[in-house]
Amino acid sequence: MTTSITAETIHPAQKPLEGSLRLPGDKSISHRYGMLAAIAEGTSVIHNYSSGADCHSTLGCLRSLGVEITEDRRDVTIAGRGLHGLTESAAQLDAGNSGSTIRMLSGILAGQRFTTRIGGDESLAKRPMLRVMTPLAQMGATLSARDDKFPPLSIRGGELRPLDYDMPVASAQVKSCVLLAGLYAHGTTTVREPARTRDHTEVALREFGVEVEAGRGYAKVRGPARLEARELSVPGDLSSAAFFLVAAAIVPGSNVILQGVGLNPTRASLIDFLVSAGVEIRVLNMGMKNGEPVGDLLVRGGALKGGVIEKQWSAALIDEIPVLAILGALSEEGLTVRDAAELRVKETDRIETMASNLRRMGIQIETAPDGFHLPGKQTFGPAEIDSFGDHRIAMAFAVAGLRASGPVVIQNAGAASVSFPEFWDTLRGLAA
Ligand code: S3P
Repeated sequence: MTTSITAETIHPAQKPLEGSLRLPGDKSISHRYGMLAAIAEGTSVIHNYSSGADCHSTLGCLRSLGVEITEDRRDVTIAGRGLHGLTESAAQLDAGNSGSTIRMLSGILAGQRFTTRIGGDESLAKRPMLRVMTPLAQMGATLSARDDKFPPLSIRGGELRPLDYDMPVASAQVKSCVLLAGLYAHGTTTVREPARTRDHTEVALREFGVEVEAGRGYAKVRGPARLEARELSVPGDLSSAAFFLVAAAIVPGSNVILQGVGLNPTRASLIDFLVSAGVEIRVLNMGMKNGEPVGDLLVRGGALKGGVIEKQWSAALIDEIPVLAILGALSEEGLTVRDAAELRVKETDRIETMASNLRRMGIQIETAPDGFHLPGKQTFGPAEIDSFGDHRIAMAFAVAGLRASGPVVIQNAGAASVSFPEFWDTLRGLAA
């Protein structure tokens, strides 16, 4: 949990939002490029690496494993150590607030011939780890955890067996963890997923020269693999863009351009959902960057219909649901979310942290174990909000403040730095 006690005040928007933005590098892709560069042969350069604290937790862990990393603003140079060149860390690795760091790096640690302890902050200490411990143990690693399931983890790696794994939860972190461990196993490792999750690991592995077979619902790698260093460029983060897409959508007359945003189809359901909810979005200048689709998004404010998020949509939109809830409460029909129990095991229990803050703003919400229902046509009142140390809660409620009937104070606003340190300045710039 981010302990910053900073507060930010958001005033209701007095006029439409106008401007053109470039977002920081995608958090998911930055983690993967950092980890793969560390186990590649040769030196990789990553441009537009995420400025978020989470991705710096990944770099910190890699440094503790003996990887030389230099940073020049958003460019990160990583001297790869090869598949077996990482070195044992005497100290426990610190994944900070980052579930992606601890879960994905566990896959690599399972292939090392030494023991690593890895933990993080108070929020990370509550996040479920059995989902990665189970497959890694089946591959031959020895793992232990606090209460057998929470960080810190201790991982004794070694010779790994390939695995054919049916994931019980739709999680790209788990899929990536198993595929990364699969790089070390002798033979083919297959992961099958119950709903489609982001495929950045599969795309990135190919960029580093690894053959990956992937189709709807599965991905396979063959180990032992050899990764070759690369020069790469990270697209803008669509999950960070989501806050400005919704901000522009809810402030009538707004006109905002988001440049160079990653539009991988496994993430871009956000655009489809927003369009189905009545938001006007145009995609311009589509291109490819290191196997990832990238484009500019032009969004205009207008009438909002609302909608239902369920089944495979819930997995695809899981990070964006907090900000979509803001749009939902303002829309004609409201928003219903089902099949999203994973919200309860994110940086906070997001169903509860959203509901608590929405109620402080005078918004009605009915919660359920796996989602919630928000009636439409509601009015946000002025309030004091708590981010509860969760970056996406801080930013979602900042967006709500633009349509509130008075000022909204967000306590613990510094949490936004986990993924988007520039968020507050960017929002102020657009609303000015
Ligand atoms: C991520 C996967 C998702 C997402 C997280 C980033 C990734 O988590 O919520 O913010 O980069 O693979 P799960 O794998 O737990 O669904």
